Amino acid sequence: MARVLHNLIAWGLLVLLASLLMAPAAVMAGVNKPVLERGKGERCVEDTEFMRRNHMALLKHHRDDTMRRGIRTTKHSLKGCVDCHASSKTGSVAASKEDFCMACHVYTGVKLDCWDCHATKPMKQYRPAATPRVTPLMVQQQGGQQP
Ligand code: HEC
Ligand code: HEC
Ligand code: HEC
Repeated sequence: MARVLHNLIAWGLLVLLASLLMAPAAVMAGVNKPVLERGKGERCVEDTEFMRRNHMALLKHHRDDTMRRGIRTTKHSLKGCVDCHASSKTGSVAASKEDFCMACHVYTGVKLDCWDCHATKPMKQYRPAATPRVTPLMVQQQGGQQP
């Protein structure tokens, strides 16, 4: 319970902090330096500074493990990156030049082919959209009425 409360407070502070940081960030967008939207949650999968420098190694290594040896862990999953770093504007990590994975890469001139195969947006949770609550068959079997 205390943990939940703590998380809630941390979240509130985060949102507040993020909105405070957004204003100067918008002003800085005029300059060429990449402006990054903060990831979701309290922290990244590894230390932030480490991630800035070494995320490519994590992802590449992970890819090799997955492809060659069939190992699959979720800690450094590309899906995870996308879930937490998708833009609140485009819903994607690589749809616009400001989106998380693009911002630095455009700045440093790194091109990624990952998005040829991997989704740039978080997977939508499966929701059966317009399934009728009572199918005609059910109505027949139950002798019931349409709702
Ligand atoms: C030619 C298609 C293709 C390209 C291009 C590609 N991948 Fe993959 N990737 C796959 C397939 C297929 C798998 C294994 C299926 C799975 O685990 O979803 C995979 C799995 C992964 C995984 C482990 C599973 C996961 O969700 O984390 C990572 C990490 C990954 N790729 C990263 C990358 C990165 C980073 C790039 C760009 C540098 C890239 N991939 C480019 C096809 C591709
Ligand atoms: C649970 C959510 C979450 C996941 C999953 C996640 N991140 Fe992060 N990431 C964050 C947060 C939050 C920050 C900001 C942390 C901070 O400011 O100290 C961050 C920071 C970063 C940064 C530094 C950004 C900067 O401001 O310079 C990079 C790079 C990064 N993440 C890459 C990745 C990659 C690559 C993956 C997938 C392997 C990933 N992240 C997965 C939440 C996440
Ligand atoms: C804080 C800036 C920054 C962010 C944010 C960032 N990257 Fe990078 N990324 C870099 C830099 C800089 C390089 C080039 C490093 C080098 O040349 O060794 C790079 C290189 C890579 C590489 C290796 C490319 C290659 O061909 O060698 C991959 C893969 C990669 N990034 C994936 C991602 C993904 C996926 C995201 C979003 C989840 C992301 N990066 C977000 C700065 C960033």
